[in-house]
Amino acid sequence: MAEPSPASWTVADVEADRSWIYPLSAAHGASLLAAVRGAGDLDKPILAWRRDDFDIGAAIPTLAAAFAEVRDGRGMALVKNLPRDGVTPAEFRLMSWAIGLHFGVARPQNRASDYLTEVKDVGVTYRSPTGRGYSSNAELDFHVDSADVVLLSCYNQAPVGGMSMCASAATAYAVVKAERPDYAAALATGYAFSRNGEEAEDEAPWYATPICSVEDGRVFCKWNRNRIQNAQKLAGVPPLTQVQREAMEYFDAVLRRPKNMFCMHLAPGDLQILCNQTMLHSRTSFQDHADADKKRTLYRLWLARPDSRRLPESWSVYFGTVEPGTVRGGMKGQHYDDERRQFDARQAEAVGMKVA
Ligand SMILES: [Fe+2]
Repeated sequence: MAEPSPASWTVADVEADRSWIYPLSAAHGASLLAAVRGAGDLDKPILAWRRDDFDIGAAIPTLAAAFAEVRDGRGMALVKNLPRDGVTPAEFRLMSWAIGLHFGVARPQNRASDYLTEVKDVGVTYRSPTGRGYSSNAELDFHVDSADVVLLSCYNQAPVGGMSMCASAATAYAVVKAERPDYAAALATGYAFSRNGEEAEDEAPWYATPICSVEDGRVFCKWNRNRIQNAQKLAGVPPLTQVQREAMEYFDAVLRRPKNMFCMHLAPGDLQILCNQTMLHSRTSFQDHADADKKRTLYRLWLARPDSRRLPESWSVYFGTVEPGTVRGGMKGQHYDDERRQFDARQAEAVGMKVA
């Protein structure tokens, strides 16, 4: 039986105690912006920046407390008050990147092997075989992203919709275990996930891993309906069994129960940080602003963290390694070149991590 952990929360818990929200003081926000504005040429490619290019020291304690919450606390943290007024998208984007440089090694996120992506509706169809939700305006299913931690910084919010939802996998798994132990057992069996056509040359188009695993008493969750459904269309993928299908529907329904699904509306200047092992996230659909420069815009960063935990062995197939404190996770994609390898090595050294 897993120990009750702060990551196993209900909506009532996170509403009653909001200490997972970390407001940045005006002075610390100003120092963050000054560090970005003083760093040099904003148009420089992001992989060319070094950790020491940004003197963000004053803001570090608040950000570090938020990262500690993500690792040891509720698995989610919200940093408020990143400077936004009078800040350009390029400055805001670089601020997000500078934070990442101080707290881990960014990981590639897509076929193009991008290390920092803009979350914006560019007309992509989420339900297509290669569709990615972050480039659409669609409602997204609950899922985890493919790196230890995801950072989402909000530059512009949509006028209608675009609500962020979070749910604790540990809570949902415990509920399934109590109500339907047969489904809990099925969730611990291998499910095939599609790589949605973003696989690197040395990767297969799909891999199998459980939706829920328990390691050292902690629940580790990998849930992504789209990728499981897409995998079912690929050659050689074993069909889901009836109980696997029912179990995933049940799990998803438990996540969506009002007592488990926490909704938040990210405001400009908010930075959401989530643990992709215990925290599931989703988003409602949105209607965007008519003005191009007011359209919903967030910046997404995936990080491998120096204090990451050991992963269940079954996760090695898509994290590369389960070793703690290593550069792991992400989607290598099809442009993982020397520039990216050198960035990974340099940045791993800067934050004291091992390259897998
Ligand atoms: Fe996501």
